[in-house]
Amino acid sequence: MDKIKIRGSNRLVGSVDISGAKNSLLPILAATLLSDEECIIDNVSNLKDVKTMIQILGCLGVLVRQEDKRLYIEPKEFLGNEASYELVKTMRASICILGPLLARKRKARVSFPGGCIIGRRPIDLHLKGLKSLGAKIECKHGYINAEADSLKGRRLYLGGPFGSSVLATANIMMAATLAEGETHIEAAASEPEIADLADFLNKMGAKIEGAGTPIIQIEGVQKLHGAKHSVIPDRIEAGTYMIAAAITGGDVFIRNAKVEHLGAVIDALDSIGCVIDVREDGISIKSNGRLSSSEITTLPYPGFPTDMQAQFMSLLVVSDGVSVITEKVFPERFIHAGELKRMGADIALEGPTAIIKGVSSLSAADVMASDLRASAALILAGLVAEGDTIISRVYHLDRGYERIVEKLGSLGAQIERVKE
Ligand code: UD1
Repeated sequence: MDKIKIRGSNRLVGSVDISGAKNSLLPILAATLLSDEECIIDNVSNLKDVKTMIQILGCLGVLVRQEDKRLYIEPKEFLGNEASYELVKTMRASICILGPLLARKRKARVSFPGGCIIGRRPIDLHLKGLKSLGAKIECKHGYINAEADSLKGRRLYLGGPFGSSVLATANIMMAATLAEGETHIEAAASEPEIADLADFLNKMGAKIEGAGTPIIQIEGVQKLHGAKHSVIPDRIEAGTYMIAAAITGGDVFIRNAKVEHLGAVIDALDSIGCVIDVREDGISIKSNGRLSSSEITTLPYPGFPTDMQAQFMSLLVVSDGVSVITEKVFPERFIHAGELKRMGADIALEGPTAIIKGVSSLSAADVMASDLRASAALILAGLVAEGDTIISRVYHLDRGYERIVEKLGSLGAQIERVKE
């Protein structure tokens, strides 16, 4: 298994290009199941999760052809309506094929996605929403069996104990495009990835309004056609490179980063002393030495994203003063704190809250990546730690960061991937 080795202390300088958003692309690929005509998707990142979703489509009988950053997807008369545990277990996002399969085939059998290292991840909201549209759902032997003679639009509330759900919103929105009549989703997720999915669905002939806000209206249509779409830039990748610049006292231009997707992250970085300049084609960020402490609470969009929490923790670990991070989306998502402590961080956990006392420096150590964003957090810490940090289990990174070693290397980081 590969490891990543980083020698700390280099200041990052230069510019970096942001790839297409993984979390937009995955539901968009699922949405192609809603039509029998060819769809063309551009700005496709080369990531493990994307390959998994392509494999799932392949197993359903869909033809997928890739040319560089473009995918040609031909669902034609695809045959299958079942996604096996073998495929679904590696990526929870596979659950978002449930809605499109049900809408198109009226029958779907999808494995339960299983546990997750970042905490409890139920799918009750997905099932509640689909049942509201008229699906009969039975969960047996680790599979979700869903059936519907017809789906009927209706008004439904999709909020859960931790607010809105991104993929439940995606699933219900996709299913509702082919339902009879009008569906109103209240407490819908407002993430930019939901707006991007709706944009694609509307290009396919769907009638969706309000995506990107907590109330989405969908007027069902009989049929969707093929469409061409380019995926939005990845705001979490952009935010991660902003922190790479901030933590190393660097000066980096993040090309393609969209300011309108990064409000909470920009505000947090600005408030601790980073200098941020928003330009037409991206965001530049500079930091001159030590930054100050902060209080961060993760929330559904437009709040501070949970997917940036681990990376921001690495930054606060080496900032002056006492910081507090409260995780309100996945309250147990703190496995990275233990690894950061092995590098000298001073972090105390109290339920969903982390109290961080800034230290003057970190010392390199052998650490283990536990999930995608935790891996990024360890790389960021490694960029400023004294000595060589070795990160194992880096396959998590391949799920969501395209060419991260090359991109950081081009900014001046001493980073390499080594075979065990
Ligand atoms: C998506 C993102 C993930 C991100 C998360 C929150 C993708 C592929 N993944 O995951 O990177 O961290 O949004 O921004 O887009 N919940 C329920 N019942 C449900 C579903 C969710 O209670 O049926 C809870 C979850 O446990 C969590 C909260 O709702 O506490 C938000 O989760 P959700 O938005 O559903 O996450 P995902 O869509 O799976």
